[in-house]
Amino acid sequence: MHLAFVLGTRPEIIKLSSLLAACVREGVPYTLIHTNQHYDAAMDSRFFEEFELPAAEFNLGAGSASAGIQLGRMLLGIQPVLERVKPDCVIVQGDTNSALAGGLAASKAGIAVAHVEAGLRSFDKRMPEENNRILLDHLSQFWFCPSSLQAELLAREGIQGTNVHVVGNTGSDAVLHYGGHAQQHSGIYTALSLKPDKYLLLTCHRPSNTDDPSYFAQLMHAVDCLAEALDQDVIFPVHPRLDQRHMDTLKSKRRIRTIEPVGYLDMLALMQGAALVLTDSGGMQEEACILRRRCLILRANTERPESLETGGAALVPSVDAVALIEAARALTRATVTWSNPFGDGQAYRRILDVLHGAFEGSMPGNGSWRSGQVELSQPL
Ligand code: UD1
Ligand code: UDP
Repeated sequence: MHLAFVLGTRPEIIKLSSLLAACVREGVPYTLIHTNQHYDAAMDSRFFEEFELPAAEFNLGAGSASAGIQLGRMLLGIQPVLERVKPDCVIVQGDTNSALAGGLAASKAGIAVAHVEAGLRSFDKRMPEENNRILLDHLSQFWFCPSSLQAELLAREGIQGTNVHVVGNTGSDAVLHYGGHAQQHSGIYTALSLKPDKYLLLTCHRPSNTDDPSYFAQLMHAVDCLAEALDQDVIFPVHPRLDQRHMDTLKSKRRIRTIEPVGYLDMLALMQGAALVLTDSGGMQEEACILRRRCLILRANTERPESLETGGAALVPSVDAVALIEAARALTRATVTWSNPFGDGQAYRRILDVLHGAFEGSMPGNGSWRSGQVELSQPL
């Protein structure tokens, strides 16, 4: 069996790290194709170092551009690599443009696509990620769902059968592996002079929150008011999507301390010490829940409703300061089950076992896997 991974952004590196590490450990032949959608060291190479992963064999240099151009560059780069390497299966994770490009290129080359974190739906087609994940699910041959909810959602779209697997989220693999280590060894509390439970943690990078400068300004004003009401500072590792205009808006916010993006261990430590996490990040919604931290989701909807069901997270669709403060107070009072709905840290094991079973004995690059495993219940 020869696997190819296509990734390009920070969360994909984090959420594919357990699978990549297992391939290295167990000698599973694989090829790593990096689109370089993210390329700053703080968004990219730092995570390979933290996870002690070999660098990508192919770097495509797609970089930043409008979505169509970015996707085009990625496809141009991926296609010849797949022709050369002839993997049995291309693995992509999540819902980024890089994942979509990996899936599309493989599909056009007649190579099986395995979608890790399949079946998530926000039901909000204004999100670029929602369109990407729907397209990916409909061109995949293996679906690795975090929980049975996603398998049900796939079934509603006609995707079901023995290649839909509920395996947990590979994000859990990373959190459960590194969480304890992070809290003991991260120097971030000292570096930022933080006391546990005495600060709020914020991340904000979704287009819905950042593309409209006036909306972003109102949101940051509300966060600043919440921090004032709680008498706590806000630590905000800033995503590079935010530009000078955003930074100018943030300058006037007394309680918001902006910092460069942090490494994964520092982020896990920051989350574990935060009185409250405020975020529009997909991965951080899951991580806050796994780490048992209350989380205000700065969005009107989520493709990860599991954390809402624990009582430990709430959606805040409003930029109104009073509404945000009330939501924070309600969340602080809420009874939380703190069950971890995102997996037991072994998602990578289940995924590799499935792929081993499917491709055992297959001739590399012949585009075939065990017959009878792909079942679509009805025409798409
Ligand atoms: C992308 C994903 C999003 C994911 C996020 C993770 C898509 C459609 N979006 O959004 O789902 O949540 O990554 O962080 O794939 N930039 C840099 N340096 C970098 C990377 C980006 O300066 O290393 C800046 C550039 O100005 C770029 C902007 O960030 O134009 C946006 O980057 P892009 O990768 O297009 O989208 P993200 O917002 O990062
Ligand atoms: N993260 C990090 N440093 C940061 C911000 C986030 O290591 O400064 C991690 C975070 O813990 C999570 C992942 O990056 O594992 C989430 O990435 P992001 O929010 O960019 O993308 P999303 O999950 O929204 O797609």
